[in-house]
Amino acid sequence: MNIEKLKADPRMPKHVAFIVDGNGRWAKKRHLARSVGHEVGFENLKKQIELIQELGIKNLSLYCFSCENWKRPKEEVDYLMQLFNKMLDDFKRDYLDKDIRVIISGDMNDDKLPEMVRTKAKEIMELTKDKTGFVLNACINYGGRQEILKVVNELIAKGTHIVDEKTFEKHLYTADMLPLDFVIRTSGEMRTSNFLTWQSTYSEWYFPKKLWPSFTKKDLIKALKVYMKRDRRYGAVKG
Ligand code: IPE
Ligand code: IPE
Ligand code: MG
Repeated sequence: MNIEKLKADPRMPKHVAFIVDGNGRWAKKRHLARSVGHEVGFENLKKQIELIQELGIKNLSLYCFSCENWKRPKEEVDYLMQLFNKMLDDFKRDYLDKDIRVIISGDMNDDKLPEMVRTKAKEIMELTKDKTGFVLNACINYGGRQEILKVVNELIAKGTHIVDEKTFEKHLYTADMLPLDFVIRTSGEMRTSNFLTWQSTYSEWYFPKKLWPSFTKKDLIKALKVYMKRDRRYGAVKG
């Protein structure tokens, strides 16, 4: 793995996103509880975040829990909430002395979320809000449609009648982030599942078959190489 060479490549994406899918199937295949899949998936996430940072990629978005994931059994939801609680503790422990900003996208005022998660999410966002080196955006209780409606309602509340794209984008959770270049969804599912709807209109998508807990650093490098060969035209004619 030649990290330095890759890092220096101008075609590298600046904002990558992971839809970390397949934890449940990974566990099922091994006759384990779905929660074990989430735990192993969470450990893998830490490794992948490290590699993204090592590669000099400035922004990373993670789909951790969708607005639709409340439909899952209570036991699984409770387990995931416990993991997010831990994840937020880890962010605080590991990032405060670094140039890292943490954004939590999603409705943090929803009382379906444990009080602890809501408080810790708000705290880490506040503590890191002036950092600019690397932005980690964790989407929890997030939906792309819900985010668009949030923006619309904020604009209505301000008395806005006509809005352009720039003004609209200032109200998105990702307002201070770079355009979303590349979305990787593991597990072979080829759908967006309500993820970063506004932001991903011109992103490149990649759907590796591997389940998230089995997705390795090598797989991420392979994905980035695929991205670098893509021809992004944005509707124009090139070449
Ligand atoms: C993704 O894995 C993790 C979350 C939704 C939090 P899944 O739990 O969706 O795993 P599969 O898709 O059932 O295998
Ligand atoms: C999307 O995965 C949400 C996250 C990874 C957090 P899902 O597993 O919930 O999506 P569907 O149900 O397959 O569309
Ligand atoms: Mg899934």
